[in-house]
Amino acid sequence: MVTVPLSIPSMEVIIQSTADAAADLAARIIADELRRKPDLVLGLATGRTMKSVYAKLVRIHREERVDFSRCRAFNLDEYVGLPAADPNSYRRYMNEHLFHQVNIDLKNTFLPDGVAKDLDAECARYERLIADAGGIDVQLLGIGASGHVGFNEPLSAFRSRTRVKALTPTTWAQNAALFPKPEMMPRRALTMGIGTILDARRCVLLATGTKKADIIARAVEGPMTAMISATALQWHPRCVVIVDEAAGGRLTEKNYYRWIFENEPEWEPFRNRK
Ligand code: GLP
Repeated sequence: MVTVPLSIPSMEVIIQSTADAAADLAARIIADELRRKPDLVLGLATGRTMKSVYAKLVRIHREERVDFSRCRAFNLDEYVGLPAADPNSYRRYMNEHLFHQVNIDLKNTFLPDGVAKDLDAECARYERLIADAGGIDVQLLGIGASGHVGFNEPLSAFRSRTRVKALTPTTWAQNAALFPKPEMMPRRALTMGIGTILDARRCVLLATGTKKADIIARAVEGPMTAMISATALQWHPRCVVIVDEAAGGRLTEKNYYRWIFENEPEWEPFRNRK
């Protein structure tokens, strides 16, 4: 006889009314996981969208005393050629927006080293660090205009592990504005692979704003394709995609997604907070 699991895992989509409410939900999911498991292994992301998630986590830490002291954190990616001290490095971003503002032990925070002499060896070392920590419990993800998660640009293999990746012109156009001069943006990055991300026990992807509406519809409701790395998440056993109305604007099954959030017991503690 075939045993049917009580709950068959799948991707879920949650639409929140505003970008603020969407970021708030992502932060509360992470805080909830941390309360349940104080030595949580967190996977973290960077980008404009994540800034408000980290601001909310800092507030939750201060006001509700959520404890980061035993937590370990692994970031998705880092630019090749930027040392940790560079104002545009993802290490600087993380220190500024989260690590220096909560009680996490900096020794427990990890990003790939973008200036390692041997980048391939650095990628292998990073994978070992994640494995030695017992794997990632919750992976926070944004999405780039190219459909990337981390820096997994189009045609990233679904089985890929941490490696060096050349950035697409789309990503360059999206992120160069964050550098003092666009030409200062590196053309390559070290990134966890799609396979690394799929190994996380839970994924939380957050996207807000109309600019993300098209890529979100393709990532969530389109066919799986290596041309859009985020579609690999359709294969993940426990992935929640949180969007605001703007980023969810081109989804066709909105009523279904709303029904799930309003009715499924799992989401009960997270309803009616905003
Ligand atoms: C960078 C990061 C991605 C992130 C993306 C989203 O490219 N490498 O991990 O998903 O930014 O950026 P934003 O939130 O600024 O749109």
